[in-house]
Amino acid sequence: MGVKEQYRDYVMTGFVKRVEPVEVSHGKGALLYDADGTEYIDCFAGISVTNAGHSDERILSAARETMDKIVHACSYVYHVPQVGELAQRLAEVTPGDLQKSFFGNSGAEALEGAMRLAKRASGKHEFVALESSFHGRTNATLSITGNSGRKKGGFPYSTGIAFAPAPFCYRCFAETTPDKCDLLCARRLSEIIRLHLSGEGAAFIAEPIMGEGGIVVPPPGYFERVKEILDAEGMWFIADEVQSGYSRTGKLFAIEHWDVVPDMMCMAKGLANGFPLGAFITTAEIADKFQIGDHLSTFGGNPISCAAAIANLDVHLSDDLPGQSARKGEALMAKFRELQRSQELIGDVRGKGLMVGVELVTDRDKKTPGAAQAAAVRQYCLEHGVLIGVGGNFGNVLRVQPPLVISDAQLDQVFETIMAGMKAAPAA
Ligand SMILES: Cc1ncc(COP(=O)(O)O)c(C=O)c1O
Repeated sequence: MGVKEQYRDYVMTGFVKRVEPVEVSHGKGALLYDADGTEYIDCFAGISVTNAGHSDERILSAARETMDKIVHACSYVYHVPQVGELAQRLAEVTPGDLQKSFFGNSGAEALEGAMRLAKRASGKHEFVALESSFHGRTNATLSITGNSGRKKGGFPYSTGIAFAPAPFCYRCFAETTPDKCDLLCARRLSEIIRLHLSGEGAAFIAEPIMGEGGIVVPPPGYFERVKEILDAEGMWFIADEVQSGYSRTGKLFAIEHWDVVPDMMCMAKGLANGFPLGAFITTAEIADKFQIGDHLSTFGGNPISCAAAIANLDVHLSDDLPGQSARKGEALMAKFRELQRSQELIGDVRGKGLMVGVELVTDRDKKTPGAAQAAAVRQYCLEHGVLIGVGGNFGNVLRVQPPLVISDAQLDQVFETIMAGMKAAPAA
């Protein structure tokens, strides 16, 4: 029985199959190879995970060395050196006085833990999240996800959750423009807190740059204004850096593009470059509100994943992955913006670093989403050796989120392939 049949008969995939999956054999840097040896430029990095590149030997050998000594020792029962060291390193590299980390296995677990602590520490139980956001597939994280498409079939969700408008200038909820609006989407948060919560607001949760929502970059000043409102309301800011963190946007953490320090920060994906690990970090003052027995994850803080995460952090800093991401992303977006002058399908080009979104529309004035065109471009790219993602509420945003070690020549090839894919895409 081949792997495709095994997947068909025995694996619960649970996602919409839009393209034929590649049967991956191995990866190196920004390249993936299938079972027949066909080479692909990976521009999705396993959903923005392998930011330091596939199979970086420095990360692998750190994991191997630890694996030879210990595989599991539940870090809530024993002191595990890799967990202690990683926690201290995270306190050093995260903004402000974020200090104490809790380790789980995934992004959703990080968000769940942060929400749990926010409730425990504040004594309040309500949250505000953003429309168009995505935070995971557990019940609590789907409850704060602002996209009904992802929530279908999972009701009921948690109560006490309100949604604020997405800071999405291209598809602004108020149909205004940044030069006129004085950050209306941020200001609206005051009313949401006052009108939709019952005075029990614990925290506001947001991705600094939305990934699944279609690479949505809030305008300058947005998070500063939001933080002022939250401080006035006595609510915390939980930054979900699961997808935007780890040099993806040209900074180690995307929130550093704004002059704001969150009260809690969640991370996963790029944290251990593919080894399963999730974490949330907060100040000592908030963290110490957890009572004995409040929270636990059996596998969380696995020594192998933590060893990989320490080596991974060293790679990000020594190889200046934030700088590489910033430079390569700017160059790529400049090319797409130039192409936008002649290619009518491109409605918007946005992003930071190598978190790049190209929104396809079939009518620029009406901004009619070009979902079929985005699917066609993705399929074309797959058939021509480039793997890209598609996202956004309408499924019409091409997502280019490669390993940050991708070479300039590889990025040129990616651009050429996507451009050809757009030319070949069906008309509206
Ligand atoms: C911003 C964000 N938060 C949370 C998650 C959930 O992470 P995981 O799939 O590891 O649970 C994701 C996954 O895509 C994400 O993009």
